[in-house]
Amino acid sequence: MASKNLRHLLSVDQLDTELIERMFTYADAAAKNFDDKNRFHRPGGPLQGHILHRLFYKESTRTYESFGFAAEHLGMGVQGSQSVQFSSVAKGETLEDTIRVISAYLPSLIVLRSAKAGDAARAAEFASVPIVNGGDGSGEHPTQGLYDLYTAREELGRTSNLKVVMGGDLSNGRTARSFTKLLAKYPGNSFTFISPPTFEMGDDIKQMLDEKGLKYTETSELETAFKEADIVYWTRVQTERLTDEQAKFLKANPGADKKYVIGAKEIALMRKDARLMHPLPRVGEIDPAIDNDPRAIYFDQVHYGLRVRMAIIEWVLGYIE
Ligand code: CP
Repeated sequence: MASKNLRHLLSVDQLDTELIERMFTYADAAAKNFDDKNRFHRPGGPLQGHILHRLFYKESTRTYESFGFAAEHLGMGVQGSQSVQFSSVAKGETLEDTIRVISAYLPSLIVLRSAKAGDAARAAEFASVPIVNGGDGSGEHPTQGLYDLYTAREELGRTSNLKVVMGGDLSNGRTARSFTKLLAKYPGNSFTFISPPTFEMGDDIKQMLDEKGLKYTETSELETAFKEADIVYWTRVQTERLTDEQAKFLKANPGADKKYVIGAKEIALMRKDARLMHPLPRVGEIDPAIDNDPRAIYFDQVHYGLRVRMAIIEWVLGYIE
């Protein structure tokens, strides 16, 4: 039976700024608890006996691996299936049944990557252990959003009064959705959305910004936005999740998905103290030639993700209040 008293992490909507800061304080401390051989020393001892299970219906490198590493650094056991489509799912097993089966093996939590928005919430209805949403279709990616926010805090020293440019596929890009929702919890943040036609940020997010009185603009013009930005957050076109309308648009406009490539010319527009972020993987929309520019921090972002996912595991298990 599913328990009602579990700490699932399904959406950033669950989190208030005080809880986020408690997690980030833990992440700060975690960074100091690694020795020079990358061994983690957890105050209070390891989380031995706990097992994290990764149930991944869709492709992943970062989310799958970083939760595995985060759990192992904490002293937990790790189980997982990144090829769930080759399991009983291929025989037609439902998400609900698979969740009930995995729960019966007594993991301490399940990290779920799934195909459709709302899958994580559905899984939580049937799980008897906490579910962490590791990305549900075009819905949300709360753990990525959290470490994107942590990256902003680390790199710019604040999570408020930021001018944020978000670009690429903002309609299917769940990381951009979660990051925007998180930034909207803090005062004074403003947004410029840049995307090809049919790939614009969802109306639900724009309505949420309107309701909170936060400014946003939509433009196809990079120059002014880049010059003013504190953060440029770039994303790839999610070709695996195109709507019929988007597929039609790309067929009629070949190369439209490659229109916005960030290279030397574009990053030169940004201030020296601004930062270029990307959730990765990139598939051509950021030129590797700019990787060594100090403003390009997408690989640092990945490391911040490890710390924050350690904090998320600790919170889900009740070690952070
Ligand atoms: N950013 C991200 O979620 O990457 P993966 O799909 O590799 O997990």
